[in-house]
Amino acid sequence: MPTGVRRLRLAPSLLSADFGALGEAVRAVEAAGADALHLDVMDGHFVPNISFGPALVAAVRERTRLPLDVHLMISDPARYLDAFHRAGGDTLVFHIESDSDPAEVVRRAHDLGSAVGAAVKPDTPLAALDPVFDRLDQVLVMSVHPGFSGQEFIPDVLPKLREARARIDRDGRATDLSVDGGVSATTAVDAAAAGATFFVCGNAVFVGGDVRTNLARLRAAVEEGAQRAVR
Ligand code: DX5
Ligand code: ZN
Repeated sequence: MPTGVRRLRLAPSLLSADFGALGEAVRAVEAAGADALHLDVMDGHFVPNISFGPALVAAVRERTRLPLDVHLMISDPARYLDAFHRAGGDTLVFHIESDSDPAEVVRRAHDLGSAVGAAVKPDTPLAALDPVFDRLDQVLVMSVHPGFSGQEFIPDVLPKLREARARIDRDGRATDLSVDGGVSATTAVDAAAAGATFFVCGNAVFVGGDVRTNLARLRAAVEEGAQRAVR
């Protein structure tokens, strides 16, 4: 698909928002033109941090029409698909390194009527997704080690993004290619040039400045990067 035709989407991660005023944060990014919301679920087991569960996803669902991209950084994701789907998640993204059978996770999520994504940590090769790649609605390449917002983008994952882009284009499916972690107005250019189409942004949206200006900067960055992509 020619670069210009690809839809580029920005998904603010609520992990970086003020948890004391989440409703306001949701309204602000929706009004500022965000394309989706990214919700980082952490269980203190698959990753060292603990964030929130289905109840919070449901509360966000009641406050926005934006698609909810639920990033499950949890062990045994198969067990929780139903709960996050019922809470209003539109795309359920699980980690390929988790202990559930990937084919089973994909099948169950699709049976529920949900879109499904699979994520790879920075040190996990793309080939780990082979058993399910052609059934995924989203491929998520982590550009930080999962667990915390506000970390620095790891440029070593750029070849993996390019590899995923080539494979998605070869397959000819409309799979989203998501990048998550340390995405800023600077690093977003490189990620977009490498073929990412879905940009998760936490601190770059919610920390410093106002969300409207921050999102506009990120939008300009991804458009610039996509123009640079050679294809
Ligand atoms: C990290 C999470 C990310 C993170 C993004 O484990 O998956 O979604 O919150 O935040 P920034 O953009 O600040 O790295
Ligand atoms: Zn995330």
